[in-house]
Amino acid sequence: MALRHYTFTVKEVPYTKLCSTKKILTVNGQFPGPILKAYKGDTIYVNVRNRASENITMHWHGVEQPRNPWSDGPEYITQCPIRPGSDFTYKVIFSIEDTTVWWHAHSSWTRATVHGLIFIYPRLPKALPFPKSDHEVPLVLGEWWKQDVREVVEEFIRSGAAPNESDALTINGHPGFLYPCSKSDTYELAVEKGKTYRIRMVNAAMNIILFFAIAKHNVTVVSADGHYTKPFSAAYITISPGQTLDVLLHADQNPKRTYYMAARAYQSNLDIGFNNSTTIAVLRYISSNNDTKTSTSSSSSKRYPKLPPYNDTSAAFKFFSSIRSLYSGLVPARITRKIFTTVSINLLPCPNNSCEGPNGSRLASSMSNISFVTPSHVDILKAYYYHIRGVYGTRFPDFPPLVFNYTAEDQPLFLLTPRLATEVKMLEYGESVEMVIQGTSLVVNGLDHPMHLHGFSFYVVGAGLGNFNESEDPSTYNLDDPPYRNTATVPRSGWITIRFVANNPGVWFMHCHFDRHQTWGMNVVLIVKNGRGIDQQILPPPPGLPPCY
Ligand code: C2O
Ligand code: CU
Repeated sequence: MALRHYTFTVKEVPYTKLCSTKKILTVNGQFPGPILKAYKGDTIYVNVRNRASENITMHWHGVEQPRNPWSDGPEYITQCPIRPGSDFTYKVIFSIEDTTVWWHAHSSWTRATVHGLIFIYPRLPKALPFPKSDHEVPLVLGEWWKQDVREVVEEFIRSGAAPNESDALTINGHPGFLYPCSKSDTYELAVEKGKTYRIRMVNAAMNIILFFAIAKHNVTVVSADGHYTKPFSAAYITISPGQTLDVLLHADQNPKRTYYMAARAYQSNLDIGFNNSTTIAVLRYISSNNDTKTSTSSSSSKRYPKLPPYNDTSAAFKFFSSIRSLYSGLVPARITRKIFTTVSINLLPCPNNSCEGPNGSRLASSMSNISFVTPSHVDILKAYYYHIRGVYGTRFPDFPPLVFNYTAEDQPLFLLTPRLATEVKMLEYGESVEMVIQGTSLVVNGLDHPMHLHGFSFYVVGAGLGNFNESEDPSTYNLDDPPYRNTATVPRSGWITIRFVANNPGVWFMHCHFDRHQTWGMNVVLIVKNGRGIDQQILPPPPGLPPCY
């Protein structure tokens, strides 16, 4: 097992996009940030040095961190922040993951610019279950505000309304030539005819699920969220914030042409404003060099990929449900713990009805109608490990299925106002957990929610629209080769069912990976207790944990 050491210096650096310059938070001055590379089984150490003016923590999204919640990163969940001028060394253990995951900051909205890919290689290259590619291509989809992201967050928290829309979507940090003042800021991928390119991609956008496609080129999907899939060919992909994919691009088209790739929002609900712009990148065949014109020409329409309409829920979920695990027969079968939870947008009263949400209220969000309040002085992990009382409660409620019609328009009023609390869900070591996550249409007629669980990957055994029906829907579950992921999207006013074995003791955050919903409280913490065995217990805290004040 190799040990690798990385240094991440977090600092502010000026960047210019869309003709406007601002200072952004970066790792080592790079946006998107550096790529971490590791072999399966490696332990890597990342020394994070905070040389910026705001707090930071780092999360290794999709890395399961066996028994080691101390290095998981969510602020005030598993650690107190690294303050300006301080350092902390994360120990990142790559247990079972292959392929591609990513890292990002996990304090307020700092992840908007502080993120990067993680490439994991199998120990034996021959072990790869798909044809070897000739080249690897990192592809980070993101979102850019001209405004300082700190201001965006402050404003939206103060107003109680939705945050300002971003000004552009980006591909590897470049908005592309469709945006004003962005002609030369277009990512270009040069390929050679006949070769195969492995695109390792992440949706690092803050609040937007994306469709992505490449003109005239289907891609072959070979992994999702760090786990191999049965390879399948796709004309477009759907990728939610937090998700990663490995796709193979076969450069097999007319090399005299230049093709475009594009990403645009999938947004099921028209009731709220959203960024419906398109980010474009260029796919150019090398040695077709006499083709220098990338601007409009008579055949240019063929060069634009076809993306599904922005509100096409069935297209979005058709992609998600075509994902199958490469391996069969690994889904936990005998469930010992069933959890039923809802994810909702809610309303909170506001003094003098002075907020900018509906009727002067403030928008909020919740799970099981509890709007999660993040502790502000000590993290939940420390409170749990050292038995510090008064930081969190242990009564996160289950909703029994269908006492309400969660997806009808008229809802019991009390559901509109969530309870503000820090409630965790306790799990015994080794329990086989099934969790049904029901989306509601309490306030905005329902939205999709990309739900992410730290510390685990889980099987997405089922998904559907409308209210979960306990007597019928389980018969539709795929218990053979369902997607094995760490972030799964609950469809608008629909549900998903996930399964996993609680064999990773620790304190694990679960939340919507739309940052606006996370900020509003669509979160819960799962605490998995220690097992009896010595290797079933949380590791001791590492030296140098950032202090809490
Ligand atoms: Cu990718 Cu809690 O995050
Ligand atoms: Cu959400």
